[in-house]
Amino acid sequence: MGTGWYPVALAEGLERGTSTGTRLFGRELVVWRDSADTSHVWEDRCPHRGMRLSFGFVRDNHIACLYHGWQYDTSAQCRYIPAHPDLAVPGTIRVATYPSIERLSIVWAYDELDGDPPQEIGLAERAPTTPVRSLYVDASAAKVFDALVLAECPPLKNTGGTTQRSRTGTLVSLKSGGDEILIAVQPLSDLETALHIVIAGSPDVHRGDSQKRVSAWSEALRREIEGAARHAGEPRHEVVP
Ligand code: FES
Repeated sequence: MGTGWYPVALAEGLERGTSTGTRLFGRELVVWRDSADTSHVWEDRCPHRGMRLSFGFVRDNHIACLYHGWQYDTSAQCRYIPAHPDLAVPGTIRVATYPSIERLSIVWAYDELDGDPPQEIGLAERAPTTPVRSLYVDASAAKVFDALVLAECPPLKNTGGTTQRSRTGTLVSLKSGGDEILIAVQPLSDLETALHIVIAGSPDVHRGDSQKRVSAWSEALRREIEGAARHAGEPRHEVVP
């Protein structure tokens, strides 16, 4: 897969004033949401001594590093160094950032640090959507796409029928009757993938039973993908003790 837009988190799972760490092609990212409800995706590395910013604290419109408390505003510029409170912080001290956007209840990042995306994300907002879950799969993104090409849309509010499948970049749609689920595929590394799954349709309709059904369906899909990956000789990713 080349440079482009990739999902990095379910938007609903990222509450105001919180941060989380994730990966894209093995690179560490921090995803955080400020007090104005805007999400940000940055390199997960403090420019001071390299501490992960995802371990830090979000306060109002900045994120503070856990180690020495340097504070970065929403433009990723360092604004305050507690050990030197009167210092006018040089403009060169800033975190590397990824362009990001929210679509379809998912946070997306453009895979180029400090990049300037050549195109809009190209995913029409289909409001409303019902978030289901993020799911981690011990297999490559290629194996996930191989499985999704054959996957059946689980019946939700309709009686089911033939599944229509389509793919836009890293987003796969499975449609059957009036039901549609969307699966956004995040390559964490060469051998690990995250799926961010939403239902196209209102939470008023799909909250509860539909979410449980899609969640159970996704766990079965994970078993199938991991089984296929082992069968094909794909190595498991090494867990560092
Ligand atoms: S490593 Fe982040 S403030 Fe020192």
